[in-house]
Amino acid sequence: MKEVKAIIRQFKLDNVITELHKIEGLPGITISEIKGFGKFKGRDEEITISEGLHQLVPKVKIEIVVHNDLVDEIVNTIQRTAHTGNPGDGKIFVTNLENVVKIRTNERGEIAI
Ligand SMILES: Nc1ncnc2c1ncn2[C@@H]1O[C@H](COP(=O)(O)OP(=O)(O)OP(=O)(O)O)[C@@H](O)[C@H]1O
Ligand SMILES: [Mg+2]
Repeated sequence: MKEVKAIIRQFKLDNVITELHKIEGLPGITISEIKGFGKFKGRDEEITISEGLHQLVPKVKIEIVVHNDLVDEIVNTIQRTAHTGNPGDGKIFVTNLENVVKIRTNERGEIAI
């Protein structure tokens, strides 16, 4: 099992979700509105928010937990649909996931995804 976590531009979200929905077997998606900065700490971005001393850029985080065999398709879809080519396009992180518990059924592991 893997967790795919992507930080993308807000205006790309609709397009990314539309394309992810086309992937057969996609089990679920979590979306959060977040703020952050990359290497140039917001200076390469159009819209920044001043929080104390820090310039933070609003972004969207997408989290998806999947079987290993869907990871490449998901990562490729996000990279293709979230891309503009300009600084600040975001990143995709892939990590191994140890366990999943489905609260309704108490199923554990891959079957619970
Ligand atoms: N190493 C990181 N760890 C955690 N979050 C990150 C990391 N790099 C980027 N992010 C998140 O992704 C957002 C977009 O980062 P961004 O695309 O600007 O990265 P970058 O390394 O500066 O690349 P670019 O040169 O394309 O701007 C940041 O606002 C932050 O929320
Ligand atoms: Mg950057």
